[in-house]
Amino acid sequence: MSDNAVDQGKRTWMIATGCAGAVGGVATAVPFVSTFSPSERAKAAGAAVEADISALKPGEKMTVEWRGKPVWVVRRTPEQLAALPKNDPLLADPKSERKAYPIPDYAKNASRSIKEEYLVVVGICTHLGCSPSDKFVAGPQASLPDDWNGGFLCPCHGSTFDMAGRVFKNKPAPDNLEVPPHMYLTDSKLLIGEDKKA
Ligand code: FES
Repeated sequence: MSDNAVDQGKRTWMIATGCAGAVGGVATAVPFVSTFSPSERAKAAGAAVEADISALKPGEKMTVEWRGKPVWVVRRTPEQLAALPKNDPLLADPKSERKAYPIPDYAKNASRSIKEEYLVVVGICTHLGCSPSDKFVAGPQASLPDDWNGGFLCPCHGSTFDMAGRVFKNKPAPDNLEVPPHMYLTDSKLLIGEDKKA
């Protein structure tokens, strides 16, 4: 990856995160690490983070920072869920069988999620690391096909992903968006970065 690509990815990541914050709020449980010792800092950098999803309304997305990466939590509407199977013939890896980002067992299903309403994915394009933009509204629009069912568009080189984070065929991104390890602590509280109780 060139430096330019890295910079571009970083910049887009920041813009996209800012936008998401305005809509759905930004949740992060990363503590204020500058007062920690080096070993505590290292631990905090890799620590799992909690996210309160109670305020997330259908059709909204929130961004949680985990290990310096944006993790998206999207509360999908019934219409968005119903449209997922329609995308299957158009996708590069509809069943997430590719191995670059192995999907956790609990997300090996049609909605790629534990609870089908909530999509949890790392918001970084699998091509060169830009952060895709939300394109949740279905229907014809700029840079998207007329039969668009909602999803994400990567502004860097045009890769598109559906509302389960699955990449469409013949796009530069080689893989679906990564599903990070995660689990529900309660109905409204997610733990991202860990998927089993210690
Ligand atoms: S970084 Fe190239 S399409 Fe997303």
